[in-house]
Amino acid sequence: MRNRRAALSALAATASLALTLSACGQSSDGGSEEKAGSAKGGTVGVAMPTKSSERWISDGNNVVKELQAKGYKTKLVYGEDDPDQQVSQIENLITQGVKALIVAAIDNKSLTNVLQQAHDAKIPVIAYDRLILDSKNVDYYASFDNTKVGELQASYIVDKLGLKDGKGPFNLELFAGSNDDNNTKYFFGGAMSVLKPYIDQKKLVIRSGQTALNQVTTLRWDGATAQKRMDDVLTKSYKSEKVDAVLSPYDGISIGILSALKSDNYGSSSKPLPVVTGQDAELASVKSIVAGRQTQTVYKDLRKLAKVASGMVDDSLNDKKPEVNDTKTYDNGAKVVPAYLLKPVSVDKSNYKQILVDGGFYTEGDLK
Ligand code: GAL
Repeated sequence: MRNRRAALSALAATASLALTLSACGQSSDGGSEEKAGSAKGGTVGVAMPTKSSERWISDGNNVVKELQAKGYKTKLVYGEDDPDQQVSQIENLITQGVKALIVAAIDNKSLTNVLQQAHDAKIPVIAYDRLILDSKNVDYYASFDNTKVGELQASYIVDKLGLKDGKGPFNLELFAGSNDDNNTKYFFGGAMSVLKPYIDQKKLVIRSGQTALNQVTTLRWDGATAQKRMDDVLTKSYKSEKVDAVLSPYDGISIGILSALKSDNYGSSSKPLPVVTGQDAELASVKSIVAGRQTQTVYKDLRKLAKVASGMVDDSLNDKKPEVNDTKTYDNGAKVVPAYLLKPVSVDKSNYKQILVDGGFYTEGDLK
């Protein structure tokens, strides 16, 4: 089925590509960057959510590189965290005759109509790191084990505080990601499965009282929004007490939390910084870890993710079934989307060299 769709798509694409790509040029879809590769497979559209976070810039570049190595051209667009803009960018990519789409959604529920258009044009769709909901037209999902990400963050807090050795009680505050990102509930669910027993035993105390997911989300993963919430929590709930740990789902949020802590004089000898987790091993956060501010991050090898996603495209367009390793977890409301999930790794000051530098993700120079 996919193969027939792919073959038809190839014909349609070849015809329309010549017209649309040459007629529209680079700015036709609001800032797309067309990168020429060999013409083997036509053009693949890559829709990323934002350039405001370094990880998605790497993702875009990595995916483009992988696809070009396989002989495709690429059109890479960034939606600047605006769901409507992302929808129109994807519509434009479809009009321009792309053969396949790789999409990291901004709002997981805003793409139903545009994915129907992709389906009607026989274009396979790969959801990249963020699952797209409410559409049966998501062919595959490439991501990491998102529950594990949350478990790693929470286990780090448990270990660092010595909760297993009976230490405590400690004060903890919880942060979660954007409520329109499907990953948010997996990260939070994974983390809470580890933290809940200690919360129930009152070994972990959440003084703000904000424990439900809808009380702790951070729209669009915005660091400034998290900073503001942390400021509020510190003002209202930590007059004489101090916070010992903060569950943060993402490095950009951790940076915001750390700014609020700094404004409240944390980081001095009488008021040490709490354990602060994170995710993505973004450069600023790894530097912060090395400097002893942020405590931990979860590293996800984006190079591998780009390989998996572009392999899924290549297989889909060449009569092959992409390899998947999970066919149960990711129900998007319309179907269970077959997924390939990579392994996340916990990183702190003790292992960043081994994982990030020896692993070639950063050089020592990058971290200076
Ligand atoms: C999530 C992703 C995280 C983080 C976050 C903010 O979807 O899984 O790794 O990047 O978005 O960009």
